[in-house]
Amino acid sequence: MSLILACILSVLTLVSSSIIQNGQERRVVFPDTKIASASQSSNWLTFPPNSSEISYKGRWDSQYISWWSAPGIKFRFTGSKLALSFGPQTSPNVLVGFRVNGQDWTFTNISSSSTHQFYPLPSPVPALQPWHPHVLGAPINPSNTTIQTFELYVSNWAYGIQLQAIHLSPGAHLHRAPTFGRTLEVIGDSLTAGQYASYEALSSWAWQVSRGLGVESSITAYPGVCLVDAPCWGNPRGQAHQWFQTRDTSWRGNSLGEEKWDFTRHPAADVVLIHIGTNDNNTANNVTAERYVSAYKELVQGIHTVWPKAQIVLVSLWSGYWNDGYRWRQGGSWVDEIWGVYKTFEKEGYVHYFNTSGLMTHNDIGPQWHYTDVGHVKLGSALIQYLRMKFGWEVEEEVAGQEVLHDTTYWNDQANY
Ligand SMILES: *[C@@H]1O[C@H](CO)[C@@H](O)[C@H](O)[C@H]1NC(C)=O
Ligand SMILES: *[C@@H]1O[C@H](CO)[C@@H](O)[C@H](O)[C@H]1NC(C)=O
Ligand SMILES: *[C@@H]1O[C@H](CO)[C@@H](O)[C@H](O)[C@H]1NC(C)=O
Ligand SMILES: *[C@@H]1O[C@H](CO)[C@@H](O)[C@H](O)[C@H]1NC(C)=O
Ligand SMILES: *[C@@H]1O[C@H](CO)[C@@H](O)[C@H](O)[C@H]1NC(C)=O
Ligand SMILES: *[C@@H]1O[C@H](CO)[C@@H](O)[C@H](O)[C@H]1NC(C)=O
Repeated sequence: MSLILACILSVLTLVSSSIIQNGQERRVVFPDTKIASASQSSNWLTFPPNSSEISYKGRWDSQYISWWSAPGIKFRFTGSKLALSFGPQTSPNVLVGFRVNGQDWTFTNISSSSTHQFYPLPSPVPALQPWHPHVLGAPINPSNTTIQTFELYVSNWAYGIQLQAIHLSPGAHLHRAPTFGRTLEVIGDSLTAGQYASYEALSSWAWQVSRGLGVESSITAYPGVCLVDAPCWGNPRGQAHQWFQTRDTSWRGNSLGEEKWDFTRHPAADVVLIHIGTNDNNTANNVTAERYVSAYKELVQGIHTVWPKAQIVLVSLWSGYWNDGYRWRQGGSWVDEIWGVYKTFEKEGYVHYFNTSGLMTHNDIGPQWHYTDVGHVKLGSALIQYLRMKFGWEVEEEVAGQEVLHDTTYWNDQANY
């Protein structure tokens, strides 16, 4: 009965969205957060996107447009309501994950030139599973002077949002959220951007490491991109060039032109994880081993120049598995080359090698040749432990126990088969 009711409710009040899982639709409920407007005259207090209380996570350009993988915003607020307006450069129907006060992630689609209300939600969200009510991120009845924390991140690398304004109730205040003490940079391609994972960037190993440890992070990863500065799978430039730019290699980036990333205006990363080369390793892209190695060294030197104190970790690549008719065997891309780059810099002390061999198994690669959600979890978990042991990065007390990956509660609810 309650399920039927939930279905009827969803027809009435929810935007029907879908996640396709193994060729079938996964049952998800995304609340519709769009509201008509939030103008000053209709009892809202508006703050511009350059308000110093807003922390922009990842790469955002001078027009407050987001780029790359899992860019986001974070701030604190008081008052009884919260809405955001998005500008014309927002992509159509961008799926974003948001939360208030570190509760579970809620997803909603954002559209361009629109206003969306995130707190309280404009329409109720029925629980999908009665055993686990959908927690919608806020104390039940906070006083309107309670300081609450809001976060919102973009799930798809190719889409972006343009923040235009924040709206609170009259008399409310915006506050800057404290930042974590450590900063992580993750450089990669689709395998890092979370392509073909359930919630894309918000299901990736890079996201898991970032949110799971509690660090400031930027995930400069884009599907199809090579390390070598060459056109690969439609990306006009490679990471050896693009990583130094604010915008990624997407169609939206190319149509707006380049804007250099100003490293002096943003905190330096303490640790950089690099997981790139699978596209260079594809015969379709004509990259030779010599060019790959030279681009890798150039990128490492470039990072060291802008962030002299950063520790750089070269994360080795897989390239899938094959079955020789006897048993499964593990592949590897640029195995000797990546090791060689590490050996070149070994004596300088700031370059490290992380051996991924054996962390996944053949069924952690999906039919689209990318890590499954479980594969991402394996790599993310191994890297969290590596960062703890290697650099003493403990999990921040504030994030311990918080949901990082959404919709991963798979379990057996039958005691006997
Ligand atoms: C919402 O976003 C998801 C993921 O991008 C997409 O599959 C879906 O079609 C969108 N829904 C609507 C109603 O735009
Ligand atoms: C934000 O931008 C407006 C208009 O461009 C400007 O007047 C204001 O001083 C800026 N505020 C901050 C905090 O930079
Ligand atoms: C807080 O609530 C009081 C009483 O309901 C109201 O007068 C006041 O405007 C509210 N302030 C904010 C910031 O929402
Ligand atoms: C790769 O090289 C072949 C042979 O030289 C050429 O036909 C092809 O267009 C090249 N492909 C790319 C992506 O540069
Ligand atoms: C890819 O990497 C493997 C393993 O290092 C190497 O044997 C192979 O030649 C590379 N292939 C291409 C096309 O670059
Ligand atoms: C990485 O690990 C694999 C499997 O444990 C091992 O065979 C290989 O030698 C290691 N590579 C390096 C460079 O240490």
